[in-house]
Amino acid sequence: GRSVCLLWALNDSVWIGHAHCHKLQESMLSSASGFKNYRGILNWCVVMLVSLKQYGILVDPIQVVSLFLKDPYSWPAACLVIVSNVFIFVALYTERKLAMGSISEKVGLLIYIFNLTVILCFPMVVVLKLPSITPVGGAFALGVYTILFLKLYSYKDVNRWCRERTQVKARSPSSPSVSSRMQSHVSYPGNLSLRDMYYFVFAPTLCYELNFPRSESIRMGFLLRRLFEMWMVPIIRSSMKPLQEMDYSRMTERLLRLAVPNHLIWLIFFYCFFHSSMNFVAELLRFGDREFYRDWWNSETITYFWQNWNIPVHKWCLRHFYKPLLRIGAGKLLSQSAVFFASAFFHEYLVSVPLRMFRLWAFMGMMAQLPLAWFVARFLRGNYGNAAVWLSLIIGQPIAVLMYVHDYYVTHCQDDPTISEAL
Ligand SMILES: CC(C)(COP(=O)(O)OP(=O)(O)OC[C@H]1O[C@@H](n2cnc3c(N)ncnc32)[C@H](O)[C@@H]1OP(=O)(O)O)[C@@H](O)C(=O)NCCC(=O)NCCS
Repeated sequence: GRSVCLLWALNDSVWIGHAHCHKLQESMLSSASGFKNYRGILNWCVVMLVSLKQYGILVDPIQVVSLFLKDPYSWPAACLVIVSNVFIFVALYTERKLAMGSISEKVGLLIYIFNLTVILCFPMVVVLKLPSITPVGGAFALGVYTILFLKLYSYKDVNRWCRERTQVKARSPSSPSVSSRMQSHVSYPGNLSLRDMYYFVFAPTLCYELNFPRSESIRMGFLLRRLFEMWMVPIIRSSMKPLQEMDYSRMTERLLRLAVPNHLIWLIFFYCFFHSSMNFVAELLRFGDREFYRDWWNSETITYFWQNWNIPVHKWCLRHFYKPLLRIGAGKLLSQSAVFFASAFFHEYLVSVPLRMFRLWAFMGMMAQLPLAWFVARFLRGNYGNAAVWLSLIIGQPIAVLMYVHDYYVTHCQDDPTISEAL
């Protein structure tokens, strides 16, 4: 009898000892859990990419170089990038003349219009006319020129605002507290130096400011981590292969099958560009504002996605395009449409010119965002909205990209028996 009792007691203590192995808690993936660390999902993407063998993921430095160069003795894209310094000098020189008052605002504006037009047209002509430039090299050079266009446009606006403000200040007596507070800061026209200009050119932002917030020091560990992450960018090789022999009836099936690896690659590029590279450059330049993206993955509307995924471009659009349009009395819908039209133009410019192929897929993809945004906002809420955003990313964006890839291979490789055979 005693031993039975002992067993019961023992059992009881075991039971009591385990009584607290359950507690009231939410599953991690439900939003109430407060769980915010999604780093593992990114690692999962990397593993997925590396293991997607059937699509031929390969990191081969020689192939990377061959994407940029056809002939190792001519570096047309690099030359184009070096020439872009001329336009930077023209902008700085014009600003100095404007600050001194030796040219009028009207003349300054005319020089800027000319300079900015040439920034967009000159690389386009070079890429279209020069056969030795590869599509990737061309896209890189055009990307650099587009960024420069947006930066110099911002530079022009901000310096003009400074002149307007000094004129207003000159009319009203200045307050001593403000000027003493600003002493450690640069003020107009002290900012018109080569050093300040090149800091802005290299800084990971499109919006100019006289005094950017700066971090205290460069953290070596942070720098090395970002550098390491950048090396993980994988290169796709043969995902184009099945597209080459594609006929239009089988197209949908093929495209849908390629949408997933395409989307993963896009996610990795997002991480490498907007997180690793931008943070790397910012750390190196002690550039304080690190908000390069916000939580676009939680978007429940298309509008939220566009407000949060590419902050440098969104900031530029608001500051130099959308708000000025609203200020001159344009309506909200018109201004939004104008921004998306400009964005569509640049997307098309960056894709069509390097491929030397004008198909309007990128343009239409961007313009389709407006009716899509209206549809999602009108009919879908919460998780359904979020699913719609993901679906438009997973299906919509890769389809536009693959349309170009398909058209490019059909026009360039079908007639070439050696390439067709190789594929
Ligand atoms: C078009 C676009 C700029 C609209 O942005 P939005 O945030 O939806 O615009 P909103 O109407 O909500 O207003 C934004 C700002 O304008 C202000 N605003 C609104 N109406 C205003 C008015 N009549 N006068 C002055 N300001 C006004 C708002 O107060 C808000 O200011 P805040 O940012 O300081 O809070 C945005 O969708 C966008 O950037 N699209 C393009 C993105 C893109 O092409 N990216 C390319 C990435 S590859």
